[in-house]
Amino acid sequence: MDSDIIPFSDINAQVQQMETSLMQAIGDVLRSSKFISGPAVEQFEHLFAEFCTCRFAIGVGSGTDALRFALIASGVKQGDMVITVPNTFIATSEAITQAGAIPVFVDVDETTFNMSGKKLNEYLESNCFVDEVTAQTIHTPTGRAVSAVVPVHLYGQMADMDEIGRIADKYGLMIIEDACQAHGASYYSKERGSWLRAGTIGKAAAFSFYPGKNLGAFGEAGAVTTNDPAIAETVKMLRDHGQIKKYFHEMEGYNGRLDTIQAAVLNVKIRYLERWNRLRRERAEAYNALLEDISPIITPLEPLWARSVYHLYVIRTAHRDMLQGFLKEQGIETGLHYPVPLHQQKAYRALGYRTGSFPVSEKLSKEILSLPMFPSLTEQQQEKVAQSIRLFSREYLPPKNQK
Ligand SMILES: Cc1ncc(COP(=O)(O)O)c(C=O)c1O
Repeated sequence: MDSDIIPFSDINAQVQQMETSLMQAIGDVLRSSKFISGPAVEQFEHLFAEFCTCRFAIGVGSGTDALRFALIASGVKQGDMVITVPNTFIATSEAITQAGAIPVFVDVDETTFNMSGKKLNEYLESNCFVDEVTAQTIHTPTGRAVSAVVPVHLYGQMADMDEIGRIADKYGLMIIEDACQAHGASYYSKERGSWLRAGTIGKAAAFSFYPGKNLGAFGEAGAVTTNDPAIAETVKMLRDHGQIKKYFHEMEGYNGRLDTIQAAVLNVKIRYLERWNRLRRERAEAYNALLEDISPIITPLEPLWARSVYHLYVIRTAHRDMLQGFLKEQGIETGLHYPVPLHQQKAYRALGYRTGSFPVSEKLSKEILSLPMFPSLTEQQQEKVAQSIRLFSREYLPPKNQK
């Protein structure tokens, strides 16, 4: 790698840090010839449940599997409607569709980029009614049941779960958390009077261990977390062809198990996760200070009730494309999460949304820029990023009062 380039993330540095332990853990699996399930998977499930502070973690094949299984096991039914946000990775809505439901979007809050409780409430008030007999929320135009809401804890910061919880309670909706970017993030719940970790608030939650995540495998991997033993049991069956024991199938399921070699890798890496999250928070604070006085840049807001784990550090500027091009010329890699909101994707034309349906998500998609963020990011690298942004702002942007 060109040493002058500042990478977007640096998985390589992590691997070097623990190469011996990783090779040993992988070697143990090779020698056991147990490539499916086994003690490494069970160990990881135990460690991850402990990390999240929940009763059960069930290892599955990916974050997408995790979300699909969490939805099905929680009771989302064929033909239901499930509410989520348009500014997320498509896996969120794919999982809803794959669970047999129809995704419905509500816009996000402009300051946190996460689901807006106000918009969620407005949607339910204007489009749905609660059936007096069944107590189920029904979508008035179609008569379909609205059964769940999927807040996404985007970039490592949790959505406002007290507010979403109050609305979900009022309408009898299940909450399934998309925590795929939020390993270890926490939320201060005024209702419960304590800090709660991502993956412990909803009926179930989904995590991804895609390699670039705060906790990443060396391939595909994911987990469902829950405090509900019945959901945990159903997820275990769903991931393994609906089997309750070998060749006894309670239902049709999927091939969605957590690979044993990936579990062995995760068992080594999870020991570092608290430390890495701390370092990410420190890096975020350093960026906040360095970028504070650069005028057209908006740094991420962390409300008092949130403790982000900064999977991504995302700034905003109206000159995003120009800035991204400039940083590239300076050898600074950046990312866009995400450039096109889901309702504007070709894949979702049939849902009937149009440009203008979700103005906040649409605006954010044009203004967001993810800066390099990883635990071993150095002070010098961050200073270079900040200097480059300052240079860009001085050289290319008109002073505030000029057109
Ligand atoms: C918000 C969100 N949801 C779901 C997923 C799906 O996870 P996976 O790629 O492990 O299937 C991801 C992964 O990128 C994600 O970022």
